[in-house]
Amino acid sequence: MIRELRKAKIAGVGSFAPEKVLTNNQLEAMVDTSDEWITTRTGIKERRIAEDDIATSDLAYEAAKNALADAGLEAEDLDLILVATATPDYLAFPSTACVLQDKLGVKGIPAFDMVAACSGFVYGLSVATQYIETGTYDNVLVIGAETLSKIVNWEDRGTCVLFGDGAGAAVLTPTKSGGILSNVIGADGEQNEVLIVRGGGSKRPFSQQIIDEGLHYLEMEGNPVFKFAVRILGKAAVQALKKAGLTRDDIDFLIPHQANIRIIDAAAKRLKLDRDQIYVNLDQYGNTSAASIPLALDAAVKEGKIKSGDIVVLVGFGAGLTWGATVIEWV
Ligand code: ACO
Repeated sequence: MIRELRKAKIAGVGSFAPEKVLTNNQLEAMVDTSDEWITTRTGIKERRIAEDDIATSDLAYEAAKNALADAGLEAEDLDLILVATATPDYLAFPSTACVLQDKLGVKGIPAFDMVAACSGFVYGLSVATQYIETGTYDNVLVIGAETLSKIVNWEDRGTCVLFGDGAGAAVLTPTKSGGILSNVIGADGEQNEVLIVRGGGSKRPFSQQIIDEGLHYLEMEGNPVFKFAVRILGKAAVQALKKAGLTRDDIDFLIPHQANIRIIDAAAKRLKLDRDQIYVNLDQYGNTSAASIPLALDAAVKEGKIKSGDIVVLVGFGAGLTWGATVIEWV
């Protein structure tokens, strides 16, 4: 029997960020930095920080509820939960997706985490798309959620000014037309050490030495990541557009990973896009890794920036190094 051709669409989006704001001026009192340096080099003005007793699943739960309400669905309608995070509630297990499933009260459905750092949400969309297009599942919850403040070294000015906490979610459902037109994902594992948390895994299990040497914190070589990002944002977007039978001229709206305004501006130039075709909220949230694209997507939708029929491109890059792009005909 030939199964009816079906695609996946984003039926609802939602996001959540902790209330506590950490401004550049406040950071000036913590490390040797300045609002001027952070603003001109990154575009970030402030970021949100989760309280000590708040875990990634707590942020994910709030974002999930918002996305379900936006889609007009109940948690009971879900068939699968995917959580993209680099800062799970627990290092090994259980997965944050299982903790979230418990919070949503939907025992039984599959739930798992995906680790692709800042590309995690786009990786999640590509997996969810397969399950929907093959007819395996109907309603899939994809979440990007992070509490990066918990793995940042607050004495390292090269990294602590960049990151923040938050969560964004999308509910995917089947559609016969429009929706997700293509996904492209990729990785360059040769560069796995340029953005890394060295301690606490099987290579260097936790010990007093790990703590003493600060190896449980995020480490980054900013320059190689920057160069990679500038090149890959445009390239991945164009690849995904080509796969959808489109070109860069077809883009109505771009939602890039929110890491650095200079990276976004360079990508915009390569894609020949105007600033008003690109959503930017990194000034308010900093880099929230897997949460950054869905946080921005939710804000763009709520602000009415995306209309039915628009071609929207989501594009991300991150540790791994990884990248991914999704082309959506918004319906
Ligand atoms: N305040 C003041 N000075 C600083 C700070 C700071 N917060 N951080 C670094 N500096 C200094 C450096 O020490 C250096 O000083 P020096 O010249 O005396 O050595 C100077 O500023 C310039 O440093 P650079 O690293 O060359 O600065 P650059 O313009 O490259 O910007 C940045 C650094 C913002 C980190 C940039 O490289 C970048 O954005 N890289 C990409 C990062 C990224 O996107 N990472 C996330 C990937 S996604 C994920 O998966 C989590």
